[in-house]
Amino acid sequence: MSTLQEDVLALLAGDGRRLSDPYPIWNRLREEIPVWKQGDVVVLSRHAQVRELLGDNNILYGRQGTKTSARYERAKQEFSPHGRAAFGRVLDQEFRQLVRMDPPDHPRVRRAVQPPFSARNLAREMQDKVDERVERSLVAMAEGGSEADFKKFAYSLPLQVLGDLLGIPIDDLDMVHSWAQKIAENKFNADSEQAAIEADEAYQRLMAYIDVLVARQQASASETGLVAALLDSERNGVVSHEEAMAMMALMIFAGHETTSNLLAIGLLELLRHPEQWARLVAEPDRVPAAVEELLRFVTPAHFLPYVAKETRQVEGVTIEAGDTVIGVLAAANRDPGVFERPDELDIERSDGRAHVSLGLGPHFCLGAGLARMEASALFGAMVRMFPEVSLVEADLRWAGRSLRTPLAMPIRLR
Ligand code: HEM
Repeated sequence: MSTLQEDVLALLAGDGRRLSDPYPIWNRLREEIPVWKQGDVVVLSRHAQVRELLGDNNILYGRQGTKTSARYERAKQEFSPHGRAAFGRVLDQEFRQLVRMDPPDHPRVRRAVQPPFSARNLAREMQDKVDERVERSLVAMAEGGSEADFKKFAYSLPLQVLGDLLGIPIDDLDMVHSWAQKIAENKFNADSEQAAIEADEAYQRLMAYIDVLVARQQASASETGLVAALLDSERNGVVSHEEAMAMMALMIFAGHETTSNLLAIGLLELLRHPEQWARLVAEPDRVPAAVEELLRFVTPAHFLPYVAKETRQVEGVTIEAGDTVIGVLAAANRDPGVFERPDELDIERSDGRAHVSLGLGPHFCLGAGLARMEASALFGAMVRMFPEVSLVEADLRWAGRSLRTPLAMPIRLR
């Protein structure tokens, strides 16, 4: 029998066995040790504290601070000059991204990139493309036989949509994705020089690709709305060239696996709750509300890390300046102080919008509208085209860490 603390550490490290049902562990953590300190890492799991953490804007918690954390400093000392240089370049790339910026840089760069994500611009530029991608993929899925691996589909749809957003040709998407994956797997592994070198190489390839992609669009006057907005801000001196390119890379990191999880685990949960699926089939107008409840219930990113800026007491625990502070969004989204019957999936619930799955405040997910659009288009089309869909296997194998995900998800279409 493992202790609660061992279970939590295993989940934070991405233990596949516990990933199949992490909620009993997250729920116990929130009830028994809502502020848990282990060395220089603090884990927060109540809704109120996770809200405060996500919504804070560099007052109590910062983002850039992690750049100089003890772990990274130690890595820099231990690596060879080659490894140290590689790790330094990886950190430079990471900390140039909007999600890791603090004021005054954050509001400056965020304003520059916000217009293409407004509801109006998304409806104009992306709705038809998303609908078409969904329709085409589902038709192809139906043509492939009566069974399909839904995971593959949930994986490729958001990637194709990102391709449309950034103007990446469809034939390049797998290559771009393989670099992004290599970076995600290796970038913060301060224990391995080889990981730093691999992340650095993949970053260099990705950034060189983005540079050429943007230059090509510029030369042929075929910039997507997002690229045009970034180039405009660069010309006006609002953002640097490096910041504009980093923004493109961030879209690929932030917009792919998060959305893919909402689609795959979202359908999984709907099919595990047949009465909820039947309700959607009977009343497809409920799809947008169902997407909101699935965001809460699935929590595509289970936890996120920040750094404490000042030393203070929270519920009798001392959080010291410089501590890494992890917010467990998945635990906050099941807090019974905020949600009635939190462990029940209920597409008609009225308290679901209090979920924290898309962040809060100044760093609220820039792609929220696009993610909701993709999920609504997909579940709407599934309900219409495959009302009889069912799971082939109830027991799935899981991988990932914060972004926990099933390795495969076989479904029967009819
Ligand atoms: C279901 C899908 C998604 C989920 C669950 C999700 C979740 C989140 C969360 C929790 C944050 C806040 C992170 C923080 O405060 O540290 C965030 C920020 C962000 N997301 Fe998403 N995201 C999703 C889809 C997307 C998509 C499709 C895009 C772009 C195409 C995107 C782009 C971004 C960007 C650029 C930020 C940084 C915003 C800032 O720092 O100001 N996300 N997302």
